[in-house]
Amino acid sequence: MSKKSEPIQSVKGTRDLLPAETPLWQRVEEEARKVFEAYSFREIRTPVLEQTALFARSVGSDTDIVTKEMYTFEDRDSESLTLRPEATASVVRAYIEHALYNQGGVHKLYYFGPMFRRERPQKGRYRQFYQIGAEVLGSDHPAIDAEVLEMLVLLLERLGLVEFKLLINSVGCAKCRPEYLKILRQAIEGVRARLCEDCQRRATTNPLRVLDCKVEADQPIIEKLPTILDHLCPECRQHFDSVTLDLKQRGVAYEIVPRLVRGLDYYTRTTFEITSGLLGAQNALLGGGRYDGLSEMLGGPPAPGFGFAIGQDRLVLTLEATGTLKPAQPLAVYIAWMGDTAREPSLLLARELRRQGIGTEISYHQIKLKKAMGVASKLQAPYAIIIGENEVSSGNYQVKDMRSGEQTSVRAGEIAGFLQEKLREPLQAGNDPAGQP
Ligand code: HAM
Repeated sequence: MSKKSEPIQSVKGTRDLLPAETPLWQRVEEEARKVFEAYSFREIRTPVLEQTALFARSVGSDTDIVTKEMYTFEDRDSESLTLRPEATASVVRAYIEHALYNQGGVHKLYYFGPMFRRERPQKGRYRQFYQIGAEVLGSDHPAIDAEVLEMLVLLLERLGLVEFKLLINSVGCAKCRPEYLKILRQAIEGVRARLCEDCQRRATTNPLRVLDCKVEADQPIIEKLPTILDHLCPECRQHFDSVTLDLKQRGVAYEIVPRLVRGLDYYTRTTFEITSGLLGAQNALLGGGRYDGLSEMLGGPPAPGFGFAIGQDRLVLTLEATGTLKPAQPLAVYIAWMGDTAREPSLLLARELRRQGIGTEISYHQIKLKKAMGVASKLQAPYAIIIGENEVSSGNYQVKDMRSGEQTSVRAGEIAGFLQEKLREPLQAGNDPAGQP
């Protein structure tokens, strides 16, 4: 007898999304698509694999992502490749590679897809996670920042999310940030010995990240450090004031957090995060900002940009916690047939209903009435149709409402219309029957 082999498990930090979960993921994607397209964004799909240099040059060679978290390997021809840890760099690479800038105007692009970071897995933090993101390339106008933030808030509201906060800051530009960093470095030097070990290291490598430290004991010290908002150049100050004024005019609520710095180096001026209290430690639902020099860093022409990425895993977790977004029940009707003559008309009916976009399931083999009802209930089909020899000869089928138990005799050719009508009626209780186009 052969030895039973050990089952193979999924890779740590990756997950299978089973059919019980995917409807919510699909709803989020559908809603995002609708909202983005209404703001005239168009979809872009870029590869999951990129040259390693792309991220080193954009995200930054001193960042946690690049130094510790990337899945990088040498390909068979010795080229260094990386599974993308984020997609902004890829979108800008594609914009340059295909010379989209030659078409003029601004480019509004959105994307969905998996990203990879080798972080310590915990609730809301995975090694393969999913982002829904958007980027606007080709202008530094502050109205773009405000419009994109308005779009994001609309999307979250559409999804039924209420408990979230938009936190916003400016991290300055290539002109004012070096000046500020000098001042910050000096200030940190005075308190360095009292800071945590990580901060002592960051003080040299990336002093801005000190502001982002989560260690409790460091907080009173960090509170007193100078903030970039007090050291913006007049152009950055004006840009930031225009963004916040525009947000007010659009009725988008925000909170200015002068310590908000992000973990990627390409940001200039506006940076932001939306957090949700429902998420616990990993409370950033999404993040983004402006990156006006990124295109040049990647060898392209000047092409200011602004964008964000939503952590889809975290968004779905919050929606599950609020329970506001009920996934559609895709199955509308279960057809059970009895007797050989009933098989063919049943198959044709199922095909017709499915053609009309009505979620239909049909028994593969003959089934007894009682068992058929059990299957229909288990599948949570709101309607069942029983087709036996009598029904075939009369041409009238019994359509059973599984919730009320009520049966209606409907002519075969009218069943699709009858169900369409019924499925449009509001439900008294339970879930949305859907299966509707
Ligand atoms: P990020 O802040 O690194 O920004 O990631 C955006 C969002 O992705 C986070 O707020 C979080 O919800 C989610 N996320 C990040 N890491 C993980 C993880 N390990 N597990 C689960 N979710 C995670 C960016 O990626 C930028 N590209 C955003 C951007 C677009 N900036 C401008 N345009």
